[in-house]
Amino acid sequence: MEPSFSIPYGKQEITDADVQAVTEALRSELLTAGPLVSAFENAFADHVHAPFAVAVANGTAALHLAAIAMDIKPGDRWITTPLTFAASGNCILYCGGEIDFVDIDPATLLLDLNQVEEKLKSGKYKGIVAVDYAGLPVDLELLRNMADKYGAKIIEDGAHSPGGYFTNSKNEMCFCGDGKYADAATFSFHPVKHITTGEGGMITTSNEKTANRLRILRTHGITRNPSELHENYGAWYMEMQELGYNYRLTDILCALGISQVKRADENIIRRRKIAEVYNHELKDLPVDLFIPEKGVGHAYHLYVIQTEKRKELFDFLRSKNIFVQVHYIPLHTMPYYKQMGFAKGNFPYAEAAYEKILSLPMYPNLTETEQGFVIDKLKEFFI
Ligand SMILES: Cc1ncc(COP(=O)(O)O)c(C=O)c1O
Repeated sequence: MEPSFSIPYGKQEITDADVQAVTEALRSELLTAGPLVSAFENAFADHVHAPFAVAVANGTAALHLAAIAMDIKPGDRWITTPLTFAASGNCILYCGGEIDFVDIDPATLLLDLNQVEEKLKSGKYKGIVAVDYAGLPVDLELLRNMADKYGAKIIEDGAHSPGGYFTNSKNEMCFCGDGKYADAATFSFHPVKHITTGEGGMITTSNEKTANRLRILRTHGITRNPSELHENYGAWYMEMQELGYNYRLTDILCALGISQVKRADENIIRRRKIAEVYNHELKDLPVDLFIPEKGVGHAYHLYVIQTEKRKELFDFLRSKNIFVQVHYIPLHTMPYYKQMGFAKGNFPYAEAAYEKILSLPMYPNLTETEQGFVIDKLKEFFI
């Protein structure tokens, strides 16, 4: 018998402890700009092994402020991948920068770093937004070496990858967002992500000056810090020193974030276990799997497979209440990007991947029964 439940591709997990943490925050004195903001920042910084973390309203705000902090100016050219969510590219446009895509490596679905280097060689590019697509970390050591040669900056879009890591040439584990190689990294706390605050985001960096600037930018560009003021007339005095935004995250949401971060390590273990089961059970089906190389800790925001029969499989699984999804329609083929001059055919590997990719259910509280049902339906479709 088929179960009556529906299974999404991603879903939040809210525990009684989460609810209690939010309730306590609601009863506290400060609902925003209070002590829970820095407490969440510290807990998240510990989780991703970053020196500094700045909480903001959502992952897009994180990218926007990171782009400002990287001094993207009108006309500056930045590179990103076409196989990503719109925000990874839009943040460059918000600052008046010009976007150029580099195609993906079809083996990993990440930016093809050889092609990135070819572009950087021209000396025309100021930076790269590197996306850890699906939770697979970009080799930032390699990218940093290239970027340094050509004077480019790196924003790591880690929306999919908190808890992910790669191993560098010194055999060190380098966690996504740890600030070792990227100038800044951004995260999202949307409900389908690893940690949720409903809406929320974080920027991490190892540069204290960048962190301080980000804190000012998220609150209108206003500072009250006596050591930063141009003039000082007393305790009421504050200065707006640059054009900022209200991108603050409330204490209510930070309370939820703090409670969620406590389970982040165990949840990533669970995601990796779910992936192992898929890897094993699907290996004989006519689908491509993306198995990470040794030394790479995939964060598995998404579990992506590739199949020539994607459309039919999508419809079949959806008819069984399995809400698989396609991540992503290549950004350069979106109408807004097309009117900037991009066209279908520009990035053939991203476009070919788009025709075949499918994200299967992947979230920590996916039960064995539910995953078994998904696997049975995949087998039923192919065999
Ligand atoms: C790769 C990537 N970057 C950025 C974002 C933006 O995050 P948010 O939805 O929190 O604004 C997302 C969200 O889905 C994403 O997947």
